[in-house]
Amino acid sequence: MPVHHPCDTPASASSSPQPGAVSPDWAAIAHELEIADERAFNMAWVAVDRHVAAGRGARIAFRFLAEDGSHHEVSYRQLAELSDRFANALTALGVGKGDSVFLLCGRRCELYVTVLGALKIGAVVSPLFPVFGPEPIRNRVAQAGGKVLVTTASAYRRKVAPIRAELPTLRHVLVIDDLGGAPLPEMHDWNTLMAAASAAPVLVPTAADDPALLHFTSGTTGTPKGALHVHQAILMHYATARRALDLQPGDIFWCTADPGWVTGMSYGILAPLAVGVTSIVDEAEFDALRWVATLAAERINVWYTAPTAVRMLMKARPALVAGRSFPALRFIASVGEPLNAEAVRWGMATFGRPIHDTWWQTETGGIMIANAAGELKPGAMGRPVPGVAAHVVRRAGEPKGTVEIIEAPDTVGELALETGWPSMFRAYLGQPERYRACFAGPLYLSGDLVRRDADGFFWFVGRSDDVIKSAGHLIGPFEVERVLMAHPAVAEAGVIGKPDPLAGESIKAFVTLKRDVEASEALRAELLAHARRSLGPAVAPREIAFAEALPHTRSGKIMRRLLKARELGLPEGDSSTLE
Ligand code: WT7
Repeated sequence: MPVHHPCDTPASASSSPQPGAVSPDWAAIAHELEIADERAFNMAWVAVDRHVAAGRGARIAFRFLAEDGSHHEVSYRQLAELSDRFANALTALGVGKGDSVFLLCGRRCELYVTVLGALKIGAVVSPLFPVFGPEPIRNRVAQAGGKVLVTTASAYRRKVAPIRAELPTLRHVLVIDDLGGAPLPEMHDWNTLMAAASAAPVLVPTAADDPALLHFTSGTTGTPKGALHVHQAILMHYATARRALDLQPGDIFWCTADPGWVTGMSYGILAPLAVGVTSIVDEAEFDALRWVATLAAERINVWYTAPTAVRMLMKARPALVAGRSFPALRFIASVGEPLNAEAVRWGMATFGRPIHDTWWQTETGGIMIANAAGELKPGAMGRPVPGVAAHVVRRAGEPKGTVEIIEAPDTVGELALETGWPSMFRAYLGQPERYRACFAGPLYLSGDLVRRDADGFFWFVGRSDDVIKSAGHLIGPFEVERVLMAHPAVAEAGVIGKPDPLAGESIKAFVTLKRDVEASEALRAELLAHARRSLGPAVAPREIAFAEALPHTRSGKIMRRLLKARELGLPEGDSSTLE
């Protein structure tokens, strides 16, 4: 199968991995997925229509649990038909191949239909986290030149209406619930469009390498990066769901991640559909008792969740365990942050199953490293999944852009992956230099520091940059600093992640004030509110401290590491203790 090579970077690895050292049998995976032509297929067809064509249309694809305890289900056949209709509705609006369709709504049926319908016409789907405030939304839609936004009336009013004038490319807003009041120009009612649309099956031809998904992620500097993924990513979603998550056709699966993030898209929508399982979708927000009740009552077989959720469940433990058993639960896995050995064992004590850590990133599009069924090491991230080769490397100073592979076990270095897996990102939208900088010859450099033990298991050590992980969400300090600096009282801002027992890290900002502005509790409250209004609660700082001055490098960059060292009372010169 022709897997598009990521880049033409002139740099090369000083010690090149052997080509063919991994034998990813992607052709066999494509065959398993009933893909006739490996070069031309559409992930929505692989996910949904293929099952209908093979007589599996009556299976339940999603079972939606509403907040009030009611539920409804949608079968693979219904999902195929609804997404055809939505694809036709988009076409009727003049939306076509390559156009970007953004989503900003909760986990409801319309979201899933929108994703699949847009994929069917070759549009590029970009989900936004519903907890984002107006600024993260504006930035992402503007960068991608978003043409369509599917959202709810209340999200539109609160978050999109104030920035709509700054989004000239946004042609159509589709509202999935009652808009109320007078509709605005280029505003459509999702249900009316669906009712008017043709039900004819649609499939715009797409190449395996055509763009399909755009997931924004954060770096240390600059604007968020739009990681672009292609249709063949579904080969990876499927293969890893089978091998790393032990997902089997007919299973009942619960991925607790929101589709606003890559985990909720790759493993909340595409992977389970590709395998042909029934996914449980909880429309409500996290609640420890509700979650445990759901695991038991829905007879979940495979559960994919996050360490922050595990920690919150661990905290609520005495109330949870009482009188429940989970005979259906076969496999539990987690992703996004370190999962310590204690949490792995807590899974065993509480559910009778350990929690299997997995590692990947927005850029990798799918699981790269995992504790597979039957080979788990508590505290480790696991071993590379079949078809993936991982290395520990050191960035060499000279020639610039080269790396050296560290063969010795238990040595800390950066995690690097041999390029060529199908769900690898193909671009940072509009930022080719940043994309190229992620590669050294045939290796993708992850930015994570790890060590590999003598058994080949990888252990997470830390990030090599300043990005923050709070409640599993990657947050770029610059996105937060920029918003604080937009406040008239603020001269400069430096943002760090501070250890937090539940969220992993919480966001703390240090600000200096403009001349003649006095620090006060009232100003602190105003800055917190300003950040929250603009960024939304998931990205806004929890704490703001006033500082006389912020430390700078000679080139003028704020030294976040030093701020962090001072905050944690660590030696200022030793940056390695900060990882
Ligand atoms: C970063 C990627 C892709 C799913 C989640 C979020 C951290 C991920 C683990 C793990 C320790 C982990 C890394 C990585 N991370 N999994 N098992 N142990 N850290 O994707 O938002 O792009 O974040 O999350 O630092 O680089 P993302």
